Amino acid sequence: METEQEIIAMPRIGDKAPEFKAVTTQGNIHFPNDYKGDWVILFSHPADFTPVCTSEFITFASLEEKFLKANCKLVGLSIDGLYSHIAWLRSIKEKIEYKGMKNVEVKFPLIEDITMSVAKKYGMLQPNESSTKAVRAVFFVDPKGIIRAIIYYPLSLGRNFDELYRVVVALQAADKFEVATPADWNPGDDVIIGPAGSCGTAENRMQGKEDMECKDWYFCTRKLDKDTVLKKVLKK
Ligand code: BEZ
Repeated sequence: METEQEIIAMPRIGDKAPEFKAVTTQGNIHFPNDYKGDWVILFSHPADFTPVCTSEFITFASLEEKFLKANCKLVGLSIDGLYSHIAWLRSIKEKIEYKGMKNVEVKFPLIEDITMSVAKKYGMLQPNESSTKAVRAVFFVDPKGIIRAIIYYPLSLGRNFDELYRVVVALQAADKFEVATPADWNPGDDVIIGPAGSCGTAENRMQGKEDMECKDWYFCTRKLDKDTVLKKVLKK
């Protein structure tokens, strides 16, 4: 008998990604161990053969190369069996067109989780939304296997892929340049310098030294041009 605690386990930002072994459409995986050295998005969808999920899979698959160029692999999951996954992905490729995307082959692994064991470990099963279907969870896991960001959407709401990609790039930019990224940041926008003490003295910050502009002691930005970010974050 599983405890209530197991059903509502919710990994948090900064936690090590819970480990599991699973069967996928691309063979067996051992997560996050198999992804050491790469960023990975682990995401769940409610069910195979449903329309919002279908639109999302076509979009994920069409963007896979773009995510890979940003050092980020994709891994999907739903509480369905392997043969359902295989049949659904075949139907998507053969029959479904969405926003001009068609003949789309899903090449990233899709986990079968008929026992719900992974969904429960990751808080993907949220019983007041559905007790049998995973919500649309998105875990951004870094090359050391640490969860760095989490986004949850309900069953009825398809994900925003510009935002998922923005998160992947922004997390890497923050790491590589030791900065934070403000509201709606995209490469080329100014970045935020950490609090006084961590990045120069308060005096220098207010005097505009150290390549930064301060509006007050707590709000300092600096330029970081788009090419510099993309050169560091994207593969050649
Ligand atoms: C969908 O993907 O269309 C969907 C799945 C589960 C519940 C509602 C919508």
